[in-house]
Amino acid sequence: MNYAVFDTGQSREVIELFRRVFTDSEGRDEGMLIGNLVSGLISTRGRDVAGFVATDQEKIVGCIFFSRLTVQDNTNAFILSPVAVDTSYQGQGTGQELIGFGIQHLKEQGVERVFTYGNPAFYGKVGFKPVSEECVSPPLELTQPEGWLGQSLTGDKIMPIAGASRCVEALNKQEYW
Ligand SMILES: CC(C)(COP(=O)(O)OP(=O)(O)OC[C@H]1O[C@@H](n2cnc3c(N)ncnc32)[C@H](O)[C@@H]1OP(=O)(O)O)[C@@H](O)C(=O)NCCC(=O)NCCS
Repeated sequence: MNYAVFDTGQSREVIELFRRVFTDSEGRDEGMLIGNLVSGLISTRGRDVAGFVATDQEKIVGCIFFSRLTVQDNTNAFILSPVAVDTSYQGQGTGQELIGFGIQHLKEQGVERVFTYGNPAFYGKVGFKPVSEECVSPPLELTQPEGWLGQSLTGDKIMPIAGASRCVEALNKQEYW
């Protein structure tokens, strides 16, 4: 498996991957929703979005996006969402390696915190821990507060950040939260 920074020339293949994988796992509507999210993220200003792909012999079999979380104290923070691994490649470690590859890249760019909203059992395997909404405010209201997770990339622990936070426009829709 090869891991690399996403290139906009890969947009169509990547959007199709997310549509397919989320349709397989959660149904057609979710597949469309996440495909649209990824399309929006790809159109977002460069500095606020980072994408990474896993390829097997030129075929993209995994992809992940991170986008900026703007917080009041200017901590350099990103949100991981979404991530997908081709259904026939799941369960072989690709998802965890892709997340690790992306996070390492962000760390080298000076990112200090990464947050996500998802299954603690899965994301706990790649360093995420539950974060209370009082500690770091999520950008929108959460339907499942136990899914708000974070990790520090600077070696210290996640300290409280006062005030509201803001995500990029593409993620700023209640249906994703
Ligand atoms: C979630 C996903 C990216 C993981 O990729 P993967 O390559 O299958 O994951 P890995 O092989 O690296 O890791 C598998 C481990 O994660 C666990 N895992 C995988 N998906 C999980 C999920 N949805 N919930 C809980 N645990 C999960 C597996 O049980 C396995 O644990 P083990 O190593 O102890 O056996 C992939 O399964 C996928 O694309 N799923 C559909 C889309 C999705 O749900 N994306 C995440 C939300 S944005």
